[in-house]
This record gives sequence, C-alpha cells and structure tokens, in this order.
Amino acid sequence: MTGTDNRNTDGNTPLLAIRDLVVSFATDEGQRIRAIDGVCLDVKPGEILGIVGESGCGKSVTALSVMRLLPKPAGRIESGRIIFDNIDLAKLAPNRMRAYRGSRISMIFQEPMTALNPVHTVGRQLVEAVLLHKKNIGKKEAMSIAVEMLEMVGIPEPGRRMGEYPHQLSGGMRQRIMIAMALSCGPDLLIADEPTTALDVTVQAQILELIKRMQAGTGMSVIMITHDLGVIAETSSRVCVMYAGRIVETADVKTLFSSPAHPYTRGLLASIPRLGTRRKTRLPVIPGVVPSLSDLPPGCRFQNRCDRVMDICRSVPPEPTVVGTGHTAACHAIGM
Ligand SMILES: Nc1ncnc2c1ncn2[C@@H]1O[C@H](COP(=O)(O)OP(=O)(O)O)[C@@H](O)[C@H]1O
Ligand SMILES: [Mg+2]
Repeated sequence: MTGTDNRNTDGNTPLLAIRDLVVSFATDEGQRIRAIDGVCLDVKPGEILGIVGESGCGKSVTALSVMRLLPKPAGRIESGRIIFDNIDLAKLAPNRMRAYRGSRISMIFQEPMTALNPVHTVGRQLVEAVLLHKKNIGKKEAMSIAVEMLEMVGIPEPGRRMGEYPHQLSGGMRQRIMIAMALSCGPDLLIADEPTTALDVTVQAQILELIKRMQAGTGMSVIMITHDLGVIAETSSRVCVMYAGRIVETADVKTLFSSPAHPYTRGLLASIPRLGTRRKTRLPVIPGVVPSLSDLPPGCRFQNRCDRVMDICRSVPPEPTVVGTGHTAACHAIGM
C-alpha cells in the first residue's frame, strides 16, 4: 500500500483525518485522565495546518498520537481514528508503523538536542539518515547528498559542518539540521511541534521561512504546532484552536484573525502584542487557568474563564457548530 500510486492528489481528500480521538494517561492515583477528548481534524495535501493553544492543551499529545510515540505504558489511544492515506494509524501494528514514521511522516521538536545524537558528528547522522531511505547508494554518494541537504537548509560551509558535533552548533543551526534530517526521507507530512519556541525572534523568523520554503518546494503537508498566534499568522493557511484536550475552533487563518467565534480564541488574539504600538498597560491575558484534566467541570471546559458564560455552559458541553465556510466553533453563545 505504499508508493506514489495511491496518494491523494485531488486536493480535497485529506491526507490525514483524525476522528474522535481520545488519548488517556495513567495517573499516580491509578486513574486515567483524558489528555485528548474527541479531537477531529483534517490535514489537506500540501497545506500548512496550525494547531494553537496554551501549554497543556494537548497539542503534543495529538502529534505523538499520529506518530504513535506516546510514552508507554502511561499514554494510550482509547478510541478514535487517525486515517493517513486510507490507513488507520491508530490501529496499526507497531512493526507496520515503521513504514510510516520517519519515512512518510516526520516530526521535528522544540529542542533538536533530543533528536540529535550528541556523540556523533552531524555528517555521520545525516549520512545514516540518507542511507536508511536510499538503500542502493554508496557512502560517498550519501555524503554528497548530505552536503546538499545542509546547503538546502541554509547551513554555510556545509562541508566543514559535517565534521562537527551537535553541541558545537547554535540552536538555529541545530534546528536546520533537524529539518534536513526530517526531510531526508521526502515525507508527505511534517509535524513541527513548537520548532522555534526555544529560538530568538530573528532566528525564529528564519526557521519559519525555511519550513515554508521547504513545504512549497516539496508540496508536503505540515502541521505547525505552537502556543503563539504570531507563528500561525506567519505560516499557516488553516488553524485549529485547542483548549483542554478539545478543538474549540477551526477556520482559515484570515477568518480566525478577522472574525474569531470562540471566546477563547478572542482572548488569545487580544493578548498578542501588535507591532508598532507602544503599550503602557499590560496586554489583557485571559484570566484564570486551564482546568485540571482530572477535575474537569461538567459542561464547557472554558466556562470558568469565559466572559460570555451562561447557565447552559455549566452543564452541557458545546458541540462544534458551523459558523461559516470551513469555520466551526464549539460555543453555546454562537448564534445567540
Ligand atoms: N507523559 C505524560 N504523563 C502524564 N500525563 C501527560 C503526559 N504528557 C502529557 N500529559 C497530559 O496531557 C496534557 C496535554 O499535554 P501536551 O499535549 O504535552 O500539551 P501541549 O499542548 O502543551 O503540547 C497535559 O496537560 C498532561 O495532563
Ligand atoms: Mg507541547
């Protein structure tokens, strides 16, 4: 079932479709809490889909579920489907998952040092990555492909960098190398989990540009995970807003910024600093904190922080409602 023959190319069928995904973690008290509770999302071929939300909302757990890399044995997919190119990854046997992870789906993380091996040179790691996917080439050819890859991700003096160790490089350079390794297999889907959070703003902008350029050059799909709506605005065409293990709003990026429907999204937008404005007062942040997953209130999970809370919100969980074309939000206040 692999190969290019059966890939979705009509642009409408999603490359990845997550349906009603529920993921739980074991607690020290012997219970299971739901870190993800009914997540649905689509990633179309060739698009950059953003996932945004505060820390602890379930963004990384969503990504790790797709990769089938949830920490074992605490983390577990309880139910739901993760359809990638007509195969349900949620039910795939671990040995069959290897045909997808690191070959058709790659992931990059906030901290490249977790993915790079500190005791091997950059060159050795890149050559190994190349040889893993191109079985019928020699080491010399793999070396020259590795150098080309470094050039492609904007690393100056790639020949010299090949002989260096990860700790000899800056954070931005390490992230570039991780991107090169993640792309060495020519994935159909790249999951970038807060890839620029650890970097300063200038380097962040360069890395986001690089990811966009690589996406445009290859036509792959990207899931861009971030807590920062600025990163979404820079990169994504569509966006899912997550809150306490659920997706509360989905829209194209223009719509989300111009007419956000969910009070949580509005709160997030109100707290972005605008360029060129000199503010003397602090930006409004959403008051309160994300509720503990082990002690969720009945009804809407955002109720304790919401400025539009009504009686119904205290008892009935809101379902996603269509607000406009390609725009849904889960809030009782919509249409009232
Ligand atoms: N290894 C783990 N063990 C137990 N609970 C976890 C673990 N990883 C994540 N969780 C739970 O899942 C929730 C979502 O985590 P995560 O997806 O990492 O959030 P983020 O949106 O910041 O990426 C956390 O708030 C936590 O309750
Ligand atoms: Mg995370």
